[in-house]
This record gives sequence, structure tokens and C-alpha cells, in this order.
Amino acid sequence: MSLKFPEGFMWGCAISAHQVEGNNTNNDWWLWEQQGHTAEPSGRACDHYNLYEKDFDLAKELKIQVLRFSIEWSRIEPKENAWNEKEVEHYRKVLKALHERGITPMVTLHHFTNPIWFAEKGAWLNPDSPQIFERYVRHVVEKLGDLIEYYNTINEPMVVATMGYYLGVFPPGEKDLAKALIVARNLLLAHARAYHAIHEVAREFGFKKPKVAIVKNIIIFEPLNPEARGDVSEAQMRDLYFNRAFLDSIARGEIVPPFGNNEPVDYLKSTWDFIGLNYYTRMLCSPSVQISESGPVPEGAEITDMGWEVYPEGIYRALMMLKRYGKGVVITENGIATRDDEQRCRFIVRHLAQVHRAIKEGVDVRGYLYWSLIDNFEWNHGFSKRFGLIEVDYNTMERKPRPSAYMFRRIIEYNGVPEDLLKKYL
Ligand code: FCB
Repeated sequence: MSLKFPEGFMWGCAISAHQVEGNNTNNDWWLWEQQGHTAEPSGRACDHYNLYEKDFDLAKELKIQVLRFSIEWSRIEPKENAWNEKEVEHYRKVLKALHERGITPMVTLHHFTNPIWFAEKGAWLNPDSPQIFERYVRHVVEKLGDLIEYYNTINEPMVVATMGYYLGVFPPGEKDLAKALIVARNLLLAHARAYHAIHEVAREFGFKKPKVAIVKNIIIFEPLNPEARGDVSEAQMRDLYFNRAFLDSIARGEIVPPFGNNEPVDYLKSTWDFIGLNYYTRMLCSPSVQISESGPVPEGAEITDMGWEVYPEGIYRALMMLKRYGKGVVITENGIATRDDEQRCRFIVRHLAQVHRAIKEGVDVRGYLYWSLIDNFEWNHGFSKRFGLIEVDYNTMERKPRPSAYMFRRIIEYNGVPEDLLKKYL
């Protein structure tokens, strides 16, 4: 037995600007790091800003078909409404370097970081934030859209809202649910505006019709004690707030509770050409357990270096949850922080088996991107978390593909999971 994936299935990896480029000194995360909120500062990170060609050479060697990366807003628009065309030119070179290697770029326009001037204006709490974001998006598409077919507007809006404004572990470090809800709402509007802006500019400039997605992190929330009513409703509440409300709002063209009161927004409905799914883990819920980045896990569960439970069935459940929206899905992130590369191999195979199961049950899954191509700066945790198929030596900046990278290459070449890998890891 082996698992074959549909013809044309897209295999690849993801990275994001701030986590790999280095010296993104003009964004709110850099400040946050200088203020000592993270395990260590991002500094020169992986120096990917200078070494991108080498990284793409490796990606090519690994037969990566799609590379998802983000454009750093603070580089493009260092001051409000003032554009740095040298940086635009940099990303042109990046995009060209991918095309030259036969790798399809998938471009994320916002991956957690904000320019400092935008943060000073209140970031996503500012009622004008959706328009401000749209202006930046238009500029990017005008200047680079001839080289981009796949766009992600905003990465994990509910992580931005929750980590930054409710749990206070991402900038701006607020702990105020009411603010998190305002942020979620503004991110929804920003996403919808970006969606239309991308299509409009592409049409105006005669670019190939782009495909635009929101990237949604889904966590499987379950009651700590399935018999306890409080635990059950806590899990349902978090599922609604974190997983469903954002997507339901887009599907219905209304801002659904708890972000709004079902008020219609004329430009919101169906602002997606596909859905990006980021899946990592399951969390157990109870009103008696404080909400945190890594909730309690079932007893005896396998965990990652992030403290997250390894729960492959969750990716199947997340995909089944998305089925109702009737859109194609690309898994834009799935991966594991571990220093045990065998664990990484097992993680990938077991998750792919569950993706395959969802496809068999009718979910239109178009691709799988592993997080991440290279080790990188894992936000508040710093560099100790090793997510990469490729190891980075932070002293020498040397890259070294791990055995899991070569396993992934076999999977790509086979367009599925060959029998021996299933036997070994399932
Ligand atoms: C996701 C983020 C990504 C990375 C992984 C581990 O939430 O999108 O930047 O940090 O988690």
C-alpha cells in the first residue's frame, strides 16, 4: 500500500520575512525584541535577505514546487505613504530567483510584523488600518504582480489578535479581549480590501488572474474532561472565536459574533479563491485552566519542542471543518519543532496520511507546504525551536538539509507517500 495524491498536487515549504531575513529593524517585532520580550532578538536571523539564492538552490535540489514567503511591509513602506523602491527591487529579484528555478512563489502580504509608524498609529486597533493596509497591498501588486500568481493576504489573523491583544505575548502586549475583537474585525476588513485590491490591480495591469487566500490557523479544541459541561462549552467557545468566526464572516459577508452583530459588509462576502490552512496541534480546554500558547495535552501524548501535542488526526478534522466552505484548500503550514529528525519524518508521514484521508472524503486539498524550509526565528521563543527541513548553523550561516528533507523530496517525486515510509512511520 502507498498513498498517491491527486495529479497537480502542490508540494512545498513556507518561510516568513522576519523569521529568516535578518535586520528587519523598522518593524514592531524588532522593537519588541529590543525591549526584552523574547528569548533573544532576531538579529541577522538566517541572513536570508542576502542568502536567498543559496536557499532557493537547496529548495530546487529538494524538488520544492512552491515556496511560500512574505514581503516585509516595513521595508516597502518605511514611512507612511513613502515607498522604498530599492526594497521593491529586492523582492523582484527574489521572485525572479524562484521562477528561474522553476519554483512557484506564494506571497504573504502580512506575516505578523507591522512597520513602526503603523504600530505608532495604533496598528490594527486603528479604524483606518484596513485602508492603510490596502494602500500597501496596491503598491506591491502594481510593482510585483507580474511575477505573482498566488497571494495570501494575512497570516493567521486570530493569532495576531489573540497573541498580541489577549495573551499579550506578541506586540503590542495587550491583555484585553475587547481589543482582540476589534483587531479581528479590522483584520477581516483589511483582508477583504486586500482581496479586491489584488484583483483590481491585476486586471488593470493585465496580469494573469491571481488566486488569493486568507491563511487560517486551526487548532482542535477539546474539553479537558468530556463529562464536564464547563469544559465542553469552553472548547466550543474557543472553537467559535478562534476557528470559525473569521471564516464564517467571509463566507456570509457579515461580521459574525463575537466580532460583530451580523452586520453585512458589502465587500466582504466570498473574498477567497482558496483557503490556506495552518495546522499544528490540539488543545484541551477548561475554564479552570488558564488560556496559554500551549494548553494541556492528553496524558502520555507525544509532544514537540513547543510543548504542542502531536495530533495528526487534527489535520483531517481541520480539513473536514473547512469542507463546508466549498473552497479549495492549500495547507500553507504544517510542521514540527524538534531536534529529533526521525520525529520530524514520522510527523510528516502521519499528517500526510490524514490529509490523504480527507481528500478521499471529498475535501478539495490542492497542496501541502511544510513549515519550514529552514530553521528560523520562532518569535517569542527565539532560535532554539528547530522547525527546518534544513538545519541552519547560526554561527557560520551554513545550511545542511536534514534526512527529513530528503524524505520529503521522495514524497514530492512520488506525489505521495511510498509504501516503505508508511510501513516505517504509520
Ligand atoms: C505559525 C506561524 C509561523 C511559525 C509557526 C511555527 O503560527 O505562522 O510564523 O512561527 O507557527
